[in-house]
Amino acid sequence: MADPKTTAAVTAVGAYLPPDRLTNADLEALVDTNDEWIRSRTGIEERRILRDPTKATSFMATEAARECLAKAGVAPDDVDCILVATITPDHVFPSTACLVQHKLGAQRAWGYDISAACSGFLYGLTTGAKMIEAGMHRRVLVIGGDAMSRIIDYTDRTTCVIFGDGAGAVLLEATTDGTGVLDSVQYVDGSGVDALWMEAGGSLHPATRETVDARLHYVRQDGKTVFKRAVTGMADAAAEVMERNGLSGPDIRYLVPHQANLRIIDATARRMGIGPDQVMVNIARYGNTTAGTLPLCLADWEADLRTGDNLVLAAFGGGFTWGATWLKWSYGSGQ
Ligand code: COA
Repeated sequence: MADPKTTAAVTAVGAYLPPDRLTNADLEALVDTNDEWIRSRTGIEERRILRDPTKATSFMATEAARECLAKAGVAPDDVDCILVATITPDHVFPSTACLVQHKLGAQRAWGYDISAACSGFLYGLTTGAKMIEAGMHRRVLVIGGDAMSRIIDYTDRTTCVIFGDGAGAVLLEATTDGTGVLDSVQYVDGSGVDALWMEAGGSLHPATRETVDARLHYVRQDGKTVFKRAVTGMADAAAEVMERNGLSGPDIRYLVPHQANLRIIDATARRMGIGPDQVMVNIARYGNTTAGTLPLCLADWEADLRTGDNLVLAAFGGGFTWGATWLKWSYGSGQ
């Protein structure tokens, strides 16, 4: 008989959310918007904001990673690799992964950042899982987190109501018990570059007085275009990963969707043939934390999950980037 296949199990989850809240009422004082519009168009009621100017994404990522490792009972020195998905790194370079490695004291680990906007955590999960399947590593930390408030224009009502700050982390460990990351699809389409981007601050438009005056260091979004692409992208990817693994709606315990907009999540769930009780939704409390949304969902629902639960993770983001992953949960006895 062939040896059992090595897969990457999620063996623990950690999360960090900054304590300060930005409510819809707070936003009403900043821009011409209102609670009813925000709730009905996005499903968001409040977001968390990292107010402390001495802290940034690496702080949130490290806090999430610490909680994750403590739950797993794994020492930082036993981590082989750290992947940090973020579009709000502390610096253009070095990577946030380097800062997290140092803060954690993970002496043996290497790592790097993954820039894939709202799909970043999903891409990281695939990358980390492949490192483990290939036999290269036994323990990989995959972290998704963003301090979106640092690149949001709080005079632009079309973006400032959507985004929030937060980070989550999972530990991937080698297993042969048939659980873990079992399949994934991922895509990019660079024709979407200017539908959702931060135009300046890179090598094309480095920071100058002109770029700052033109407010080019903030997120800009063509909401309608992103919405249309996200609805089909997330739903198509989720359906593809289900179909090619013979999964149908009743086989799925939870859809773990990127939290961009409640209407995009609903469309994905309908396409998968699943009901509202099979969907993780916490957008009301955190808004869109970009690379943070998926691990923050896993953290919120962790106590409810059972060994063997089939989860489909799906995301869509700037780039465009999108994808879906079939994850068979590896621990817990849930409710
Ligand atoms: N408060 C009040 N009115 C607002 C507003 C706000 N915060 N933001 C926009 N509006 C106005 C618009 O100016 C527009 O007014 P007009 O008709 O007078 O021009 C009107 O509301 C409708 O705007 P529209 O952009 O058509 O709204 P929408 O229903 O498409 O919702 C988004 C806007 C941004 C919520 C929606 O397009 C969306 O969710 N897009 C995808 C976002 C996303 O997923 N981003 C992350 C990708 S991972």
